[in-house]
Amino acid sequence: MTILVTGGAGYIGSHTCVALVEAGYDLVVVDSFANSRPEALGRVQQITGREFPVYPVDLLDERGLDAVFEAQPVEAVIHFAALKAVGESVADPLRYYRNNVGGSISLFQTMERHGVTRLVFSSSATVYGAAEQMPLTEESPLGPVNPYGRTKWMVEQILRDQCAARPDWSVALLRYFNPVGAHASGRIGEDPSGVPNNLLPYVTQVAVGRLEQLTIHGDDYPTPDGTCIRDYVHVMDIAEGHVNALQHVLMTTGIEAFNLGTGRGSSVLEVVAAFEAATGIDIPRRVGPRRNGDAPVSYAGVDKAKQQLGWQAKRDLTEMCADAWRWQRENPQGYGV
Ligand code: UD1
Repeated sequence: MTILVTGGAGYIGSHTCVALVEAGYDLVVVDSFANSRPEALGRVQQITGREFPVYPVDLLDERGLDAVFEAQPVEAVIHFAALKAVGESVADPLRYYRNNVGGSISLFQTMERHGVTRLVFSSSATVYGAAEQMPLTEESPLGPVNPYGRTKWMVEQILRDQCAARPDWSVALLRYFNPVGAHASGRIGEDPSGVPNNLLPYVTQVAVGRLEQLTIHGDDYPTPDGTCIRDYVHVMDIAEGHVNALQHVLMTTGIEAFNLGTGRGSSVLEVVAAFEAATGIDIPRRVGPRRNGDAPVSYAGVDKAKQQLGWQAKRDLTEMCADAWRWQRENPQGYGV
C-alpha cells in the first residue's frame, strides 16, 4: 500500500518515513525543501535499505501535486509539510497562512480529485488554549495564541467541515506535545535553521560547542523548581504513533483528534539534568527573563491514543537525551556537512 508523505524530509516526517517503511508500507515523498534537505531522505533510504520516489513539489503547486497523484497509486496521505517557527509566524503571518492553510487546502482538493479519502494530519498541542486543568485532553478548550498555532487550528476546522461534507473521508488529527530525540542510528535528527528556539536543540548545540550557554527562560513560574513543565516525547514514539493512526484511518471513517505525548511533565531544569546525566557533559546556563507566550505547565492526557490507536510512548527522557546527543555529536552541523 502506497502512502504519500508531505514534508517527509522534515524532522518528524523523516522519522515517520523510517517507521512506515519498517511497518511494510510503500512511500512517496513530496517536499518543497524550503526548510529541509534532500540529504535527510537519502539517509532514510540508507537506514531502511529501501528507495522511494521523492518529488520536489510545493503544496501550493496544484498541477505539480496532480502529477504526483497521477503517477503514484496513493491510498492515504500523511501531511507534515508546514512552516513551524512561532516568532516568524508573528512577524510574517500572511506567509504562514498561505503556506500552512493554503498548502493544506491545495493538498485536500488534489486528494478529492483523485478519490483519496484517508489522511493523518500533523497538528500540535499548541492548538490548546491557556488551560487551568492538566492534563490536556482532546476535549480541553482550544485557543492558540499565535499565527502558527492558528494555522494548525484552522486546518483542523477545515478538516472537520470536510469530513462532515464527505462521510467517506477518514482523518486523524495528531496533536504532538514536545517531540525531541532522534533515530537511534544517529543518521537523522532535528536540524533547525539558525539559532534554535526549542529547548533540546539548544542544549545539544551548547554541548557540541556551537552555542556558548543555555538561557533558561524564567525560573519564577508556579512549578516545583520555578521552570516551565512540558511533555517531551521521543520522535520515534511520535513516528510510530503515525503508523497506528494510519491503520486507524484505513479502518474507519470520520475525524478524531489524538494527543501524542507521554503523559508526564518535566521541567527545564530536569531536562538539563537528564541530558547531563545521559551524556556526561555539563551544560553552562544562566537564568533569563520569561519568554512571551510560555505556559507554565503543559502535558498530555494520553488515554484516547492508548484506547483507540493502541499507541503509547515507550522511550524515557534519558533515551531522548542520549539519542538527541548522538545525532548532534555525529552531525555537528546537522545535514550541512
Ligand atoms: C514551542 C512553541 C510551540 C511549538 C513547539 C514546537 C512557543 C511559545 N511555543 O513549544 O508553539 O508547537 O515549540 O516544538 O514558542 N526554553 C528555555 N531556553 C531555551 C529554549 C526553551 O528555557 O533556549 C524553555 C521554554 O521557556 C519552555 C521549555 O524550555 O519552558 C520548552 O520550550 P520549547 O522547546 O520552545 O517548546 P514549547 O515552548 O513547549
